[in-house]
Amino acid sequence: MNGLILSGSVLATGAAATGALVWRYRVVRQGRYRQLAAGRPAMVESRPARFQLDDGLAATREAFRQNLIARTDKALCPETFARARKEALEVVPRVERSYVPAHKQGGTISYEAMHELAPACLAIYHAPALRAWLSDVIGEPVFPTADYDQSSCSMLVYDRDGDHIGWHYDHNFYRGRHFTVLISLVNQSASGGPSASQLQQQAKDGTERTFDTAEDTLVLFEGARVRHRATPTVDGDLRIILSMTFATDPRTGVVKEVARRVKDTAFFGLRALWD
Ligand SMILES: [Fe+2]
Repeated sequence: MNGLILSGSVLATGAAATGALVWRYRVVRQGRYRQLAAGRPAMVESRPARFQLDDGLAATREAFRQNLIARTDKALCPETFARARKEALEVVPRVERSYVPAHKQGGTISYEAMHELAPACLAIYHAPALRAWLSDVIGEPVFPTADYDQSSCSMLVYDRDGDHIGWHYDHNFYRGRHFTVLISLVNQSASGGPSASQLQQQAKDGTERTFDTAEDTLVLFEGARVRHRATPTVDGDLRIILSMTFATDPRTGVVKEVARRVKDTAFFGLRALWD
């Protein structure tokens, strides 16, 4: 009996100590996110992102209205694209690799890491002009998603044979509608053409569409309602996508927040549970 009481007491003490450590860690992380947010405006203003999105706006709006997915060529002005592409090439050695059997394989640069490694790409994400264009195409105002959501603005790096992600819908962890914006920064093969990896959408009737993701192409879609995948790269390919998420209401709730963290372990490992 005494042994049981002792074991119970040891367990309770251990649980309390673990809880205190996790709480302390969360306080430190929240301080870190506040610090990143405070430094961001100056970072963004010193690297103004410029776009050339207005060509074919009506057609893009109509395509999105019909299919909840649309693409446009030459999204960034040459100087902005060149700066972002240079950052993309430089981050390759710093990616976090992840592998989920039969579903995904590839490298990622998290939102937090983007502040250090890719400030020009961060400036694209936070550019008022991009948000205004997206809101116009979507038909309602959208906003950047949470500072602690490591997928808010990230780099997806496919640089090994077989990097891909299988068919899926994106989970929406926010109160409002949730959108993904992909800008292709690098898309090349060993022979000089585009990589073998293709962005595809599967319609409700099973038909598949392939979206040209040549460099500087932008694709916008509502991932929770559009089934999509990226087919595998082959040896010698390099495909780097700037991935950004927006929401009509970027607030979240406790249950959705826990679900988002579990999802993010597939990209950023177990640290996503408590970061
Ligand atoms: Fe997705």
